[in-house]
Amino acid sequence: MSSTPAAAPLTKINLAERFARFHEHWSPKVAGEVNDFQVKLAKLQGEFVWHHHELEDELFLVVKGRLTMQLRSGDLVLEPGELVIVPHGVEHCPKAEDECWVLLLEPKSTLNTGNVVNERTLHELGQV
Ligand code: NI
Repeated sequence: MSSTPAAAPLTKINLAERFARFHEHWSPKVAGEVNDFQVKLAKLQGEFVWHHHELEDELFLVVKGRLTMQLRSGDLVLEPGELVIVPHGVEHCPKAEDECWVLLLEPKSTLNTGNVVNERTLHELGQV
């Protein structure tokens, strides 16, 4: 049994153009969905919060700038074109000295701050 294709015509997503639409840091925007996953675009600057996700794996692809993914096992420094997949259960804390643009791929259920709820927790994400 085949599912019904979406009614909207397919369009391409230009990352530079999408990133130009927002400026907030640590506020991922949903650019699209892949089954139960979302493609999110985020601008990062400074340090986030140590957290883990009970169930969700998270993929971070650096589009611009440099991302330091702090892990309990040591830091990973990612340049544009590089990605890291953080498995569920693994504590991490993203950090970017200068503004960094990342594309995230993660299940829709993923809360940005994982097991931590604080002033940076976002329950609703905007679209871009
Ligand atoms: Ni996370």
